Amino acid sequence: MKNLVLIGPPGSGKGTQSNILVEKKGYAHVSTGDLLRAEVSKGTELGQRIKSVMDLGELVSDDLVVELLKANIDLSSKQYIFDGFPRNVKQAEVLDQEILNGTAYVAVLLDVDIEKLINRIVNRRVSSDGKHIYNLVSNPPRKTGTCDVTGTHLIQREDDKEEVVRNRMDVYLREVGPMIEFYKNKNLLVTIDAEKEIDGVTEQIMNCIN
Ligand code: AP5
Repeated sequence: MKNLVLIGPPGSGKGTQSNILVEKKGYAHVSTGDLLRAEVSKGTELGQRIKSVMDLGELVSDDLVVELLKANIDLSSKQYIFDGFPRNVKQAEVLDQEILNGTAYVAVLLDVDIEKLINRIVNRRVSSDGKHIYNLVSNPPRKTGTCDVTGTHLIQREDDKEEVVRNRMDVYLREVGPMIEFYKNKNLLVTIDAEKEIDGVTEQIMNCIN
């Protein structure tokens, strides 16, 4: 089983698919968004600075994200899903050369029309630790407002307000082109139709990882 690099715009299903593949295939999952939110929740001065960037929908500095990522993975014993990293070609180079460094991997691009994603994200609710993801329309919890797994109250992420979401989409569109070229040149890119239902997307990803 190859390491899996999940690329896609905000709301394309990276977190949802990661959770499913952790269950089905035993992957370890690392999300730079989750790592950054954990740093914010510590309330440190660094956390405050990270929050001010995330609240605008901009990218946190490459150096900081790379440092956080390296401190939170152990490739010697696990296969990873990289969710939300890389976000630009510089991060893609670091992942390829300094982190994966010859270990087999595939980059999967979750392709979804951007306008459809705004609607998905506005209807997203997550558990307070961000690990369990729901959608009021396509994937609702069994009991309104409550996480099926933890039983705690569901929340809406602060950066899921429409105007911030639109900026996150612009940032994605600005950075994604060169990154896709990078993976195409290495013959490592698989693009899948992520507008299908959740199970249909999982099936397509499973076909790329062996
Ligand atoms: P991050 O947390 O990574 O957010 P993101 O990339 O914008 O992605 P999302 O978490 O919004 O969406 P997702 O693709 O995981 O979709 P989900 O599965 O939840 O990053 C947040 C911020 O942190 C960034 O803006 C940046 O500031 C910073 N950051 C993070 N990484 C960084 C990096 N490497 N460098 C610099 N800065 C970084 O699904 C969305 C919704 O759709 C859910 O409600 C779900 O139930 C539903 N859904 C999922 N799949 C389907 C489907 N097939 N059909 C219908 N509904 C579906």
